[in-house]
Amino acid sequence: MQAKLKCIIPSCDFTSDIHTDINSCQKCGNLLDVVYEGQNPDNMLELFSHRKANPKSIFDKSGIWRFRELLPFALNEPNPEAVLASLDGKEGQTQPFNLTEVAKYVNLESKDFFLQFEGDNPTGSFKDNGMAACFTHAKIMNRTNVVCASTGNTSASMAAFAANELGKMKAIVFIGSGKIAMGKLAQSLEYGAKVIQIKGDFDDAMDAVIKIASKEKIYLMNSVNPFRLEGQKTIMYRVLEGFNWEAPDWIVVPGGNLGNSSSFGKAFYELKQLGLINKIPKIAIINAEGSDTLYRLFNDEGVRWNDGKPEMDKINAFYKQMDVEGRKAHTIASAIEINKPVNLLKALRVLEWSNGVVRRVSDMDMLDAKAVIGKNGFGCEPASAASVAGIKLLVKEGIIKPDERVVGILTGHQLKDPKATIDYHTNKENKFANFPVEVENDIAAIKKTIDSRFLDAQEA
Ligand code: F0G
Repeated sequence: MQAKLKCIIPSCDFTSDIHTDINSCQKCGNLLDVVYEGQNPDNMLELFSHRKANPKSIFDKSGIWRFRELLPFALNEPNPEAVLASLDGKEGQTQPFNLTEVAKYVNLESKDFFLQFEGDNPTGSFKDNGMAACFTHAKIMNRTNVVCASTGNTSASMAAFAANELGKMKAIVFIGSGKIAMGKLAQSLEYGAKVIQIKGDFDDAMDAVIKIASKEKIYLMNSVNPFRLEGQKTIMYRVLEGFNWEAPDWIVVPGGNLGNSSSFGKAFYELKQLGLINKIPKIAIINAEGSDTLYRLFNDEGVRWNDGKPEMDKINAFYKQMDVEGRKAHTIASAIEINKPVNLLKALRVLEWSNGVVRRVSDMDMLDAKAVIGKNGFGCEPASAASVAGIKLLVKEGIIKPDERVVGILTGHQLKDPKATIDYHTNKENKFANFPVEVENDIAAIKKTIDSRFLDAQEA
């Protein structure tokens, strides 16, 4: 298989060899795809399941690289195993599973409702899927300095992969001031990244980093880099693997910079072309109410991919108005607090390919959903719970129908943002609050409190 870069706009004929670190079309400035030409091996699905059952290397174990023929950009290198990047095969060990309480909460039958917990990745978020691929490309390019702007998870993952290259890679992280959950910042510091906190928000950090990367020849690891999205396709391969390669009806995912939704759609599109699945699931992208650019453009402004001819005038006018009003994203789900998502056009394309929808949910919707996930003994960060809140909304609207098979992606681990969890549970007003009870250090008083708490629980 031969890989190349290609402009996403069908009428633009720009292509490039993959041995470059350009992240935009050199003719029209739009985003790039990694595309493949040539014949895939036969029996790929058997090969993947064989590798899973009998791993012969960390790359067979890896939930990314066991699917390597479906993102084969490194396989033509002289020694692919020398460039494939992996956190010792631990990334991507996830599958869809049922959570009964959450199924009840969203009003679906447990048999139809699945979550895939990407917080189970080594650095606690889905980003490890993309980083494995992005670091592989950086290694193909012999790059040793890597950089990203981040709301916290991209940076944690990038810092970990850089550290895992044992001194051969240096990581530089840009974050907005006061905009990062503690667990995520702690990770970047611990893994040895240089953290630059700029005065501004994620979008400001993103702007700065794109400029710095091209000027200083530092390899850019944000999802504007098409290799990131190649790695994130594997999230969907594992969903499909969990269903014996039968596509579900819905994939529901939070929308921030729109890398995940874009890569999921690409994964399905390619699999359909290869004849490995017979339908593309509908993709529902869930914005936070306070960070709802895609929602507004898609639902209010009616902007569509339009077969590769999106109405850029409408998008530009929207952004201009955003700047004039000084409108800034604001949500408890700091991971998705983003004004101008870099993958907007790719997400619009996926919505067209998949006949998808966009919804937005409030901070309280996300926090309640997150608490219900917690009731099942699992934990995610606020942004991730947008998936569950979004499913609940779509079921209520009758858009998701009973008996349809639905998979929500939980993108990041609960421990990333403990403050959000504690703030929720210590406010008795909240629907599912489970607040600590203070009591004198006196056995009788303690016993009384336990009894009353226990009786309360029985009555509930
Ligand atoms: N969920 C979590 C936990 C995230 O960290 C992010 C993005 C998203 C959802 C949104 O995904 O951008 O693919 O639409 N976090 C980025 C970061 C922006 O810097 O860590 P998306």
